[in-house]
Amino acid sequence: MRPFIPAALRPLAAAMRRRLRKPVAGRFQPYSFTLPDRYPWLFDFAAEALAGKPAPRLLSFGCSRGDEVFSLRQRFPDAPIRGIDINPANIDACIARSRGLNDDRLSFQAAPDTGAEPSGHYDAIFCLAVLCHGDLTVRRARRSGRLMRFADFERAVDGFSRCLAPGGLLFLHTTNFRFSDTAAAAAFDAVLEARPDQMATDLLYDRNGLLVPNGRYYPVGFRKRGTGA
Ligand SMILES: C[S@@+](CC[C@H](N)C(=O)[O-])C[C@H]1O[C@@H](n2cnc3c(N)ncnc32)[C@H](O)[C@@H]1O
Repeated sequence: MRPFIPAALRPLAAAMRRRLRKPVAGRFQPYSFTLPDRYPWLFDFAAEALAGKPAPRLLSFGCSRGDEVFSLRQRFPDAPIRGIDINPANIDACIARSRGLNDDRLSFQAAPDTGAEPSGHYDAIFCLAVLCHGDLTVRRARRSGRLMRFADFERAVDGFSRCLAPGGLLFLHTTNFRFSDTAAAAAFDAVLEARPDQMATDLLYDRNGLLVPNGRYYPVGFRKRGTGA
């Protein structure tokens, strides 16, 4: 049950809550909201695109408490699937959920980036509802400011590009920036677009962190050029 807060103290309480969510080095989305099978159309596309590979190597970056990993397991029964999240409590929850499943092809790691992951390794990377910040939407912020910086976004997607095998798939859904604004995008082809009703309401910013009025960016799946997956 939420504690009762007198009306006069609510602005103060809200300010304190915001303070608690102050930027943490390397963290993007501070909220861990997730759902089982949250993006069925996107997962189905990935399963079809990777149908020729019996055990594709998958990375769920920003896996929260594991729903994404377990949704992927339904579609990729033999795939090695790795879940990474910056929040160690989320990773503990993933490990607890996987205990007893007898699935030694699942692995989890608390980390803020892909720095420790091998190069050219993954057949698909899923980074869904991670490279964004919910407070920007709530505040209708005109600048992404210190909550989300384009340079950090670019560093993250550079890491994904390095870790993907040639022909590998990168899925980016609900981001505050456009993948097409990054240098890494030159090595990818867009292969999947979201429909308007499959998009979240998160705001879009340009490379300088300025709001793109009414900005929508529908490409969500990208294939790294080269032969492979
Ligand atoms: C809204 S949840 C998304 C969960 C899941 N991908 C989904 O779409 O349902 C965002 C997650 O991203 C994680 N996250 C934020 N910044 C991160 C970073 N730098 N490295 C790894 N995980 C991060 C958060 O801890 C949180 O669990």
